[in-house]
Amino acid sequence: RPLKLVVTGGAGYVGSVCAARLVEAGHDVTVVDDLSTGHADAVPEGARFVEGDAAEVSQTLLADGFDGVLHFAAKSLVGESMQDPGKYWHGNVLTSLRLLDAMRAHGTPRLVFSSTAATYGEPDVAPIPESAPTQPTNTYGATKLAIDHAIGTYARAHGLAAVSLRYFNVAGAHGRFGERHTTETHLIPIVLQVATGERGQVQIYGEDYPTDDGTAVRDYIHVTDLADAHLLALDHARAGEHRIYNLGNGTGFSVRQVIEACREVTGHPIPAAVGGRRAGDPAVLVAASDRAREELGWKPERTDLRDIVADAWRFTQDRRGTAAS
Ligand code: UFG
Repeated sequence: RPLKLVVTGGAGYVGSVCAARLVEAGHDVTVVDDLSTGHADAVPEGARFVEGDAAEVSQTLLADGFDGVLHFAAKSLVGESMQDPGKYWHGNVLTSLRLLDAMRAHGTPRLVFSSTAATYGEPDVAPIPESAPTQPTNTYGATKLAIDHAIGTYARAHGLAAVSLRYFNVAGAHGRFGERHTTETHLIPIVLQVATGERGQVQIYGEDYPTDDGTAVRDYIHVTDLADAHLLALDHARAGEHRIYNLGNGTGFSVRQVIEACREVTGHPIPAAVGGRRAGDPAVLVAASDRAREELGWKPERTDLRDIVADAWRFTQDRRGTAAS
């Protein structure tokens, strides 16, 4: 049955891809986004768009009677979260609490929340299961973990059906929906900017990590596979329960391997220079996502790093084509 859904942050990278998938699946989608980091033209055709703050808008919007909320709207820059923590406690935690209260007031039954691998911090297990200790090393991860805790208590006390999805490193693009941050900090888009000539070289943040080639290892997951997990989460959410799932492919790639994959896909030499470590970066973050596979029936289909990079590259080239015309 088609669901009537609010997608906060649906003009951003992951939110827009998920909104597009929900529309494709026949759901009735209302995107709420304040456009602080999102783009109005990233809201998919077929979705309604309300411009504004997620907490603010939900106070009145949810009175229309929605089946659920997918809450993507958030501040998500690790470095910024260390320099300006208040922006993250207010922008992430306070906004989410106000959203939870509005959902409760209006009887909105389901929530799917964008959590993150950053809630685990620097665990000494690889791959990381959901039972790993949560000791975030940055404010961003701490705020997402605080929201996860709040959601759990609201679910148990008030019967909310809630799922938190802990994303590892999201990459790739879904058709015309992809990653375009004004301030780009993520590895793959930065490397692709070297291939387009926007940037001269990529800086490798440290090669003294205890990994095979000394550079940090991450689990890159295709944004379409990630979005599909949200649709499954909606189906599997149960009243009074808060479920938590890690989403990753279970395979780690080093910074050097990512750069090499980008060289192969783009045919560009992509010069790289080694610099110091970035503060707060764990050495290895790889997901154990058996729980999502078993309980949600989730099966990532675009697991080859080259395919993920190829989608991001096609998106980058299409955007440049559009910008030039
Ligand atoms: N890196 C470089 N050079 C760059 C950019 C990144 O060497 O110019 C390295 C980073 O140090 C890291 C790896 O590439 O080792 C991946 O970095 P990203 O910034 O792409 O991603 P992160 O792993 O730091 O963070 C991502 C999300 C966070 C989330 C985290 C959880 O951006 O929001 O995953 O795993 F918290």
